[in-house]
Amino acid sequence: MSTDKNRVLIFDTTLRDGEQCPGATMTFEEKLAIADFLDEMGVDIIEAGFPIASDGDFEAVSAIAKRVKNAVVAGLSRAAFKDIDRAAEAVKHARRPRIHTFISTSPVHMKYKLQKEPDAVLQLVIDQCTRARNHVEDVEWSAEDATRTEHDFLCRCIEAAIKAGATTINLPDTVGYATPDEYRAMFEMVINRVPNADKAIFSVHCHDDLGLAVANTVAGLMGGARQVECTVNGIGERAGNAALEEIVMAIKTRNDVFPFHTGIETTLLNRASKLVSAATSFPVQYNKAIVGRNAFAHESGIHQDGMLKNNQTYEIMLPETVGVSKTSLVMGKHSGRNAFRDKLKQLGYELADNQLEDAFVRFKALADRKKHIYDEDIEALVDENIATAQDRVKVLNLLVVAGTNGPQSAVLTLDIDGQHHTRQSTGNGPVDATFNAIHQIIPHQAKLELYQVHAVTEGTDAQAEVSVRLADEDGRLVNGRAADPDTLVASAKAYIAALNKLTKQRAGDARVHAQHGAA
Ligand code: KIV
Ligand code: ZN
Repeated sequence: MSTDKNRVLIFDTTLRDGEQCPGATMTFEEKLAIADFLDEMGVDIIEAGFPIASDGDFEAVSAIAKRVKNAVVAGLSRAAFKDIDRAAEAVKHARRPRIHTFISTSPVHMKYKLQKEPDAVLQLVIDQCTRARNHVEDVEWSAEDATRTEHDFLCRCIEAAIKAGATTINLPDTVGYATPDEYRAMFEMVINRVPNADKAIFSVHCHDDLGLAVANTVAGLMGGARQVECTVNGIGERAGNAALEEIVMAIKTRNDVFPFHTGIETTLLNRASKLVSAATSFPVQYNKAIVGRNAFAHESGIHQDGMLKNNQTYEIMLPETVGVSKTSLVMGKHSGRNAFRDKLKQLGYELADNQLEDAFVRFKALADRKKHIYDEDIEALVDENIATAQDRVKVLNLLVVAGTNGPQSAVLTLDIDGQHHTRQSTGNGPVDATFNAIHQIIPHQAKLELYQVHAVTEGTDAQAEVSVRLADEDGRLVNGRAADPDTLVASAKAYIAALNKLTKQRAGDARVHAQHGAA
C-alpha cells in the first residue's frame, strides 16, 4: 500500500453491500466480470462477498480471489469464528487477501441485536481480530453503527482491535444518520484519542438514507480517513451506499478543497456504471451525477449558447474524463466491421473475436431497422450480447395482435437448447399475451415483481429498454433487461433473460450444494 499521506484507497463493495440490495443479485459470471473490471479500473480493495452467507457467495469470493491481479480481495465476516474461518478459506488464494470482520458497537445494536453487554462485545472484538490475524496479515475491523456509538466505548474497541492485529479500522455510518460535520469530527476524535491510531488506516463507509453519503465520505477524509468504502452507481442496502464515481470525481474536480488522489482510471467510470447496471438490471437514474445520461446534456437554449462559446460556462468536468464521448451520433447500416470495432474500443469494450462477430451481426440487424445508431444503442446491444451469451433459451419470433378490440394475442417461438417451441396465447393487453405465451412454453411459478420500459435514445424509432424482475418460490430475486426497437420483443427478451438468470442461479446453488455435500 502507498505511503503517500494523501493517497486515498478505494474499497469497492459493489459485490457485497451493493449486492445486498433487493433484486441486485448477480450471477457468478457477472460477479467475475465486474471484479475483473474493478481491478482494471484501479480499485485498491475489492470486497467480493460474504462467504458464510451462502455457498454461492463463498464460490464467487473464492473464484475472484484466484483471478484478481492487482487489488486486495476481501471477504466479510461477523465476529463468530466459523464466519472468520470461512472468509479466510474463501480469500486464501488471493495474491493479497484481506479478512473484513465486524461487530456492532452502538447501545441500540448491542442491546437489541446482539443482546450483549459492552464488555462482552469488547472481548469479541479482541477475539475476532486475533482469529482473523492468525489467518492473514491484512485485517479490517468495522464498528457497525459507529456513528451512534458512545465515544469512550468506540475508542476502547478501536484500541483493542488494533492491538489484536487489525490494520484497517472502518467506522460506518450504517444507518445513514450522520451529518458531514459530525462524521468528520468522529474521525478527528478517534485519531486524536486512540493511543495506537497511527498503526492503522481509518476507513469511511456511508449509507445514503438522508442523501448525505458522498458528503459524509469526503468529510471523513478531511477528518483523517484514508480508505473509502463505496459502490458503483451507489447501489446498496435501502437508499444505497456512497457512489464510487461521485467520490472519485469530487476529489479530482475539487482538488483545491479535497487535496487527495486515488488510483482510479476515471475514463472507465462510465463503463463501470453500465456494466453494473446491466448485471443488476438496475437502471441508472437519468440525472445521476457523473454517470446519468443527462449528466453532461445541455438542453436549454441559454446553456447551449454558453457551451458553444466556452464549455467552461456550464461544464465543471470534461465528459471524456469519465468516459463519456462527445459525439453520440455514430453509425448507420453502411458502417463496416472496422468502424464498429473502433467504436466499441472507444466505448471501452474489449470483445473476443466471436463476441465481436455476434455483436456486429446484431448491429447490422438493428441498422436495417433504425436509421441512426447512437452510442447508447451500441452499448445496449453489446451489454445484452455479453449478458445472454450463455443463455439456453432465446426469443426467435414474436407476432402480436394488439389494438382496441381485445383480447390481444401473441404467437411466440422460443429456441430452447436448439429446439424450437411455438405457442399462441391471449391476454389482457399485448404484454400480458406475450408473457402468457412464455408461461405456456416454460411453465414456472416465478412471479412478476416489476415491469419497466424506457427509451434508450430519442425519437419514435428509439429502442425500448425493458426491465423485468421475477421472484421465485424460494425467495430468489432476478432482473432481466433487453432492448429492441419493438417494445414487445424487448419485453419478451427481458422476461426470458430473467428466467435464464433464475435457471443459472438454481443450477449454481445446486452445484455448490453438491460439491459441499460430497466434501
Ligand atoms: O453498513 C455497515 O455497517 C456495513 C458493515 C458490515 C461494514 O456494511
Ligand atoms: Zn454497509
